[in-house]
Amino acid sequence: MIIAIDGPAGVGKSTVAKLLAARLGYLYLDTGALYRAVAWKTLQSRIHPTDHAQVATLLPTTSIHMQFHHGAMQVLVDGVDVTGQLRMPEVTASASLVSAISAVREWLLPIQRQIGQGGSVVAEGRDIGTKVFPAAPFKFFLDADADVRVARRHRELVAAGRGGSIETTSRDLSERDQRDRSRAVDPLVLASDARFIDTSALSPDQVVEQMIATVSTGL
Ligand code: DC
Repeated sequence: MIIAIDGPAGVGKSTVAKLLAARLGYLYLDTGALYRAVAWKTLQSRIHPTDHAQVATLLPTTSIHMQFHHGAMQVLVDGVDVTGQLRMPEVTASASLVSAISAVREWLLPIQRQIGQGGSVVAEGRDIGTKVFPAAPFKFFLDADADVRVARRHRELVAAGRGGSIETTSRDLSERDQRDRSRAVDPLVLASDARFIDTSALSPDQVVEQMIATVSTGL
């Protein structure tokens, strides 16, 4: 049983996906963490994240594992726990760049699907309903006004001790979104069978309630 949640950065996907997974007793799969893990390895290897050929050569000798303990996720790259480093600004920026590389997307596809086979999962990302789990019985696409998304992301960064100016957050977010929506491979698009939810004026709990209402009709 897969519940797919897609949408742009800052829309509240992670918060809502975690809450929904906890409510239903499902595993929470943050697929962005896998792209961040590839970005981490690229930076460690001193390869530029736009160098498609070089990034592709890294993949066959890289191992990425996700471990789950009581709902908390750990990401291991080549056996090293990098979970705490995945939200660093340089990893965030590079993740968006490596995610446009088709070899990276192809390489991560079976890893995501294998985790999905493990049971009941709430999976969150950009192409979950369109590519990773196209047969998911429930698909949601979240969006929100740009200024709301910027404010949410800025609050998150401040809370994590990484808050720069709101202008920087705004620029980073819009660059990343533009890239995620316009890339040639598996761009962020609304799946034809996804339920669209505008979260601009909704609290995370309100979004989760809407999702539960939809899901409970089909369980
Ligand atoms: O959700 P996030 O911010 O952690 O994702 C980091 C980057 O990874 C994001 O810029 C786009 C990319 N990504 C993707 O292309 N496909 C996914 N399913 C998840 C993330």
